[in-house]
Amino acid sequence: MIRTGPEIERDLLKKCVVDLQEFKTEPFTICIFGGAGDLSRRKLMPGLMHLFESGELDNGFSIIAFGMPEMDDNQYRRQIEDSLRQFYETPLDEQKLQEFSRHLYYQSSRFEEDLKYKELCQRLDEVSMPDSKGNVNVIFYMAVPPAAVPAIIGKLKKYNLCKGLFNAKIVVEKPFGRDRQSARELNRILIDAFDECQIYRIDHYLSKEPVQNILFFRFSNFIFEQIWNRNYVDNIQITVSEDIGIEHRGAFYEQTGVVRDIVQNHLLQLLGLIAMEPPVGFSADYVRDEKTKVFHSVRIMDAYHVDRFTVRGQYGQGSINGQPVPGYRQEKNIAPLSLQPTFFAARFHVDNLRWAGVPFYVRTGKRMAKRVTEICIQFKQLPLRMFGKPSDRPEPNILVFTVQPDEKISLRFCVKYPYSIDELYLVNMVFGYRDVFKMKNPDPYERLLLDCVKGDLSLFVRQDSVEAMWEIVDPIISRWESMPPKDFPNYAAGSWGPLEAQALVESEERSWITG
Ligand code: BG6
Repeated sequence: MIRTGPEIERDLLKKCVVDLQEFKTEPFTICIFGGAGDLSRRKLMPGLMHLFESGELDNGFSIIAFGMPEMDDNQYRRQIEDSLRQFYETPLDEQKLQEFSRHLYYQSSRFEEDLKYKELCQRLDEVSMPDSKGNVNVIFYMAVPPAAVPAIIGKLKKYNLCKGLFNAKIVVEKPFGRDRQSARELNRILIDAFDECQIYRIDHYLSKEPVQNILFFRFSNFIFEQIWNRNYVDNIQITVSEDIGIEHRGAFYEQTGVVRDIVQNHLLQLLGLIAMEPPVGFSADYVRDEKTKVFHSVRIMDAYHVDRFTVRGQYGQGSINGQPVPGYRQEKNIAPLSLQPTFFAARFHVDNLRWAGVPFYVRTGKRMAKRVTEICIQFKQLPLRMFGKPSDRPEPNILVFTVQPDEKISLRFCVKYPYSIDELYLVNMVFGYRDVFKMKNPDPYERLLLDCVKGDLSLFVRQDSVEAMWEIVDPIISRWESMPPKDFPNYAAGSWGPLEAQALVESEERSWITG
């Protein structure tokens, strides 16, 4: 249904009520491996708490955290209450918090200990409520470092927790493997224990509201779909820039680096949504089919192309918002001469009929000038300049999806400057989420947790996509590893990355639009 103008707000309120009634979740138990860790405290618990507060979990739920630190249920409950007071975005209702807390249980163990999985079976039996069909729904959430996942799956299988005893699902966090080979191996282990439809591979970018909107915008507005191709588009740019550094995750980042952390997943997923063909329908597999085709169409780089069309960087000290910040090599748990890249830029090509010849410039980095995720579609110039001075730089139309922090879609075009004779002026037509909808977009983790409970796989990543994305980045990682950088650190914290990233675009007579 399409709503317009002043009806929107009223309709939305009505819709929220209807949705809540229509989609009440069945009872479930979520077992979070790494339940005392950072992801759990910062993202999962606030997401679950919000679902609880909004009535989505009214039919019953339990949360069993499985973690290394020694604690009993009560100590764990106090710990989560404290972190919710710290990380919950809106003021907490203490009574609701206490009610939520009563759904929490804790099991301390190393992940390899057999005995604890026997206890887990018992715990699951004790605390879980059957659904309306008499099944017990259990979600195993892997909020642990990637290396710990195979051992946990092995144990879940050994104790018959994957199929049979419960209606089980498993949630796996990115990065899925370190390269295509290891991603396949991880998948082999997963598929040995679960069916594909039980596996939820999370990329939280997919559930950001402005990211979901890319497909709605593209495939429900006639005028844009007509010009969404090589005949009208000059180039596409994707920027995922962060002003934060690696925070407390030095050990993880030293193993991961920017390509595995952001490019292989978040950034390529954005490219997939922008470039894909219309799906046959909007069910999970139709959408995932079309995205995977895009990944297969991205031109694989050889060593020459990696050297010519990619840029790597590592931040040195600098300043963010006027405050001095250390360089990457001075951060905690980082080797003093680390060669791990924290910045990536590249020119990709999508070799299909729609996009042949259109460059996709992409860049991402830590400790950049500002936090912004944006996708810019730059259209071609008019073939003839009718207004303005002949010496003026022509200004193309640009459509910008700002995913964060200022969620909006804008279209840039030229108008006549008042009183002038021939002066052109650039303006933006803007749709801002908050201005129109007057509400905050849901947190990505909250949406994904709810989808997982309901069994909707649309916003989760399928294995063939994972492998196809590794195929794109593997040659880049190998070439970079075989040619250690000599100039790191090569950009100052608080800048837009190494100068070579500007040159990559400027050498083709274009420039980065964001920034
Ligand atoms: C995570 C990466 O997947 O995404 C982090 O591991 C990164 O390094 C984060 O900071 C960015 O997410 P967001 O939602 O803040 O853009």
